[in-house]
Amino acid sequence: MNIIAVIGAGTMGNGIAHVFAQNGYKVHLIDIAQDSLDKGIATITKNLDRMLSKGRITTENKKTTLNNISTFTLLKEGVNNVDLVVEAATENLDIKLNIFRELDEVCAYKTILASNTSSISITQIGAVTNRPEKVIGMHFMNPVPIMKLVEIIRGYSTSDEVTNSIMELSKKLGKTPTEVNDYPGFVANRILMPMINEAIETLYNKVAGVEEIDTVMKLGMAHPMGPLQLADFIGLDVCLSILKVMYDGFKNPKYAPCPLLVNMVMAGKLGVKSDEGFYDYSASKKAEKVAAQFN
Ligand SMILES: NC(=O)c1ccc[n+]([C@@H]2O[C@H](COP(=O)([O-])OP(=O)(O)OC[C@H]3O[C@@H](n4cnc5c(N)ncnc54)[C@H](O)[C@@H]3O)[C@@H](O)[C@H]2O)c1
Repeated sequence: MNIIAVIGAGTMGNGIAHVFAQNGYKVHLIDIAQDSLDKGIATITKNLDRMLSKGRITTENKKTTLNNISTFTLLKEGVNNVDLVVEAATENLDIKLNIFRELDEVCAYKTILASNTSSISITQIGAVTNRPEKVIGMHFMNPVPIMKLVEIIRGYSTSDEVTNSIMELSKKLGKTPTEVNDYPGFVANRILMPMINEAIETLYNKVAGVEEIDTVMKLGMAHPMGPLQLADFIGLDVCLSILKVMYDGFKNPKYAPCPLLVNMVMAGKLGVKSDEGFYDYSASKKAEKVAAQFN
C-alpha cells in the first residue's frame, strides 16, 4: 500500500492523516469543507511542532510528513488511484452510506474501503457496496498520533485477506491492532460509553459535581482522564450518536442516553470542539494543557 485516502479532516481524520504521512505513506485528505481541511492541516502542523520541540522528530521529518499530505474537496479526485480509503466523516448513518456508495462506484476493485466509525455497523456499510468482502472497520483512538490501539472490525462478509492486510498495515504504523466482530459499539465503546453515560447520570442526579466525579475516577481507578473530561474530548455529539446506535441495536434500556447529555448536545455544548462541554475550554486553553499531559 502506498497511497491512502482519508475522508474527513476533523478530530480523527487529521490524526489518521498525520500518522500515515509520518510513516511514509502518501495521503489524500478529503473533506467537503475547505475550512475543515485548513484547520486539519493547522492541527497536524501544531502537533508536529510539539513533537519537534520534544525532540521526537527532526525538522526533516516534519517537512516530509507535511509534503506527504495533499488535500481535496472532491471525493472523486481524492480517491483516484488509492490503495486504501479510511473514512472518518461525521458519525451519521446516511452520510456514511452515501460515501460508501460513491466510493464503490469510483474506486478500483483493488481498493480496500475502511471506516473509522465508532459504532455504525460495518456489515451495513459493506452491504451498500458491491465489495462487502473489502469493507472493514479501522477504529483509531483519539488522539490518533498517541494512542496505540486500532480496533479492527470484521463485518459479516469481510475477507480474511483484507483483515490480515489491515492488521499488518496497522502494525507498520506502530499501532497494536486488535480484531473484533461487528456488533453495536464493537468492544471499545460497548464498555466505555456506558461508563461515560453513567458518569453523566451521576452528575444529572446531583450525586457529585463534574470535578468530583472525574477526580474519583482518576485517583480512585487510575484512569488517566475522568469520564466527563474524556467525553468532552471525544465530542458529546459523538457520544450521543454511539449510545443511540447501541440502544437501537440491543433494545436494552441500559444504553439509553442520559437526558443531560441529550440536552447539552441540543444546546450545542459539544465539548472541546465547541469550546464548552462539562468544562470550559474557551479562555484558559485548558484543552491544550490536558492534551500536553498525554505527550
Ligand atoms: N472523536 C473521537 O474521539 C472519535 C474516536 C474514534 C472514532 N471516531 C469516529 O471518527 C469519525 C469522525 O469523527 P470526528 O470526531 O473526527 O468528527 P468531526 O466532527 O471532528 O469531523 C468530521 C468531518 O467530516 C467532514 N464531513 C462530513 N461529511 C463529509 C462528506 N460527505 N465527505 C467528506 N467529509 C465530510 C466534516 O466536514 C468534518 O470535518 C466518526 O465516525 C466518529 O464516530 C471519533
